[in-house]
Amino acid sequence: MTTPGELWLREYHDRKPDSQSVLIEAGRVVGDGRTSYDVFAERVGNARRVVDLGCGDGALLATFARQGAENLAGIDLSAGELELAAQRPELRAAQLKQGRAQELPFADKTFDAVVSHMTLMLMADLEQVVAEAARVLAPRGVFAAVVGGDGAIGATEVFFELAKPRFDAVPEERKPRIDGDRRTRSAEGFDEFLAPVGFEPVAWEQIVVDFAAPPERVWATCCETLYPASTLDDAQLAELRAEFAEATRGLMTDDGILPAAVRLNIARTRLAE
Ligand SMILES: C[S@@+](CC[C@H](N)C(=O)[O-])C[C@H]1O[C@@H](n2cnc3c(N)ncnc32)[C@H](O)[C@@H]1O
Repeated sequence: MTTPGELWLREYHDRKPDSQSVLIEAGRVVGDGRTSYDVFAERVGNARRVVDLGCGDGALLATFARQGAENLAGIDLSAGELELAAQRPELRAAQLKQGRAQELPFADKTFDAVVSHMTLMLMADLEQVVAEAARVLAPRGVFAAVVGGDGAIGATEVFFELAKPRFDAVPEERKPRIDGDRRTRSAEGFDEFLAPVGFEPVAWEQIVVDFAAPPERVWATCCETLYPASTLDDAQLAELRAEFAEATRGLMTDDGILPAAVRLNIARTRLAE
C-alpha cells in the first residue's frame, strides 16, 4: 500500500522531474572524475538485464545502456520522471513502469542486476523491497545501491548546519514525510535486511562526490539536494542564503569557487549459491 511518504515524494518529483539527474551530472567522484552514475554502473559490472528501483528520469539506466546492457527496466513512483526517462533514445525499448519498488511488476528470475541510485534510503519496508529484488533476479544476480546520508564537506556541510534548525522549525503538517531506514547507513545494516532473503554480505565502498562551483551554483545544489528545503518560504530562503554567503566567504578559492562535496556509499552483493 502506498505510504504517505511515497505520496509526498511522488508529488515532489512530478513537480521537479529532472532535478536529481541534473544535480548528479554536475558532480564528479573524487579520484575518478566521472559522475556517480558512471562509477556505480562500472562497479555493478557487465550485467545484460538491469532493473533500476526509483529510476527517476532514467539517467542511470541510460548509463547502463551505454555500457552495453540490453534489457533495461525501471520503476518509479513519479509519472513525471518516467515521461522524461521515456524520451531518452537509449531507453526506447526499456520497460518503464509507474509503481512501488515493494511490488515489482516483473517476472521471476528475469534480471542479472537490481540497482538503485540515491533512492533505497528513502524507502519504507526494505524487507519487502529486497524480497522482490531476490524474486526477479536470476541465480547469482547482483543487488547494488548508492545511498546517501554519510555527511557533507565544505560549503555543503555549512549549508546543512545552517538549514537544520529551520527545517526542524517547519510545522509538522508541512514537513516532508520521507519514510527512510537508517539501516542503509552501514554495511551491517544492509546485511540485516539482505541476508534473510539469500544475499551474501555486502561489499561497501565510500565515494566522495565533488560539487565545487561558483557560490550561486553550490547554493542551488544544496537546495535541490535536500527535500526539506522545498518547504521553506521565500523569506526563510532569503535569510538562509544571506547567512550561507557570509559563513562560506572564507572557504572561497581565489578564482571564486566554493569547495563542496558529499559522501555517498555503494553497497554491492549477489544472491548466494
Ligand atoms: C532522489 S530521486 C533519485 C532518482 C534516480 N535514482 C537518480 O539517482 O537519478 C528518488 C526517486 O525514487 C523514487 N522513489 C522513491 N521511493 C520509491 C519507491 N518506494 N518505489 C519506486 N520509486 C521510488 C522517487 O519518485 C524519485 O524519482
